Amino acid sequence: MFKAVLFDLDGVITDTAEYHYRAWKKLGEELGVSIDREFNERLKGVSREDSLQLILEHGGRGADFSAEEFAALAKKKNDNYVQMIEEVSPADVYPGILALLQTLKARDIKIALASASKNGPSLLEKMALTDYFDAIADPAKVAQGKPAPDIFELAAKEVGVAITEAIGVEDAQAGIAAIKASRALPVGVGQSEDLGEDIALVATTAELTFDYLVEVWQAANAN
Ligand code: BG6
Ligand code: MG
Repeated sequence: MFKAVLFDLDGVITDTAEYHYRAWKKLGEELGVSIDREFNERLKGVSREDSLQLILEHGGRGADFSAEEFAALAKKKNDNYVQMIEEVSPADVYPGILALLQTLKARDIKIALASASKNGPSLLEKMALTDYFDAIADPAKVAQGKPAPDIFELAAKEVGVAITEAIGVEDAQAGIAAIKASRALPVGVGQSEDLGEDIALVATTAELTFDYLVEVWQAANAN
């Protein structure tokens, strides 16, 4: 049986992936760079700085800004995003997530956050979920962001579980790639067109039950 579940946050625990998108879209518009939801699939799971670079390159403005200007743009997006998430509350936790966290706790399965977001700890606080988490892997402490495996490896390490005994849950292409590279077992929240045909997928977190994770684990480990 798996010994830990490593959770992404934005788009898995709550709908903040939508706020990231809106905040990037607004910043892009101010810079004359237009992004759509299809392009946004490439931004999901990607760090603030890497996201900004992808957006600027998308608009042919990849080399237009000094390091100071770049940092100011990243800050502007984050200030807007932080304003958007101000009112996030326990009511915003996605369906099924609280029940899943409670069941995992009751079964003594470790719970860790493996989010690229520096706003992760404050969001967990706003949703009153902090106490469920045995560890929050700090994205500032890893050398490489998703799709590199680092943040999932750190999350597993911080709860003292071998990465091959962990399940990772993600809604992003970069995140699924990171889980695969880490050798945890991936479970995707979303569509196969975005996340691939080769992993276990739920359309929404309402389907993300403990029993489902057990099923996926047993199927992956049957031989
Ligand atoms: C990820 C999001 O969880 O965190 C990305 O999917 C976001 O969209 C990244 O860019 C970094 O978040 P933050 O809050 O540190 O800017
Ligand atoms: Mg996500």
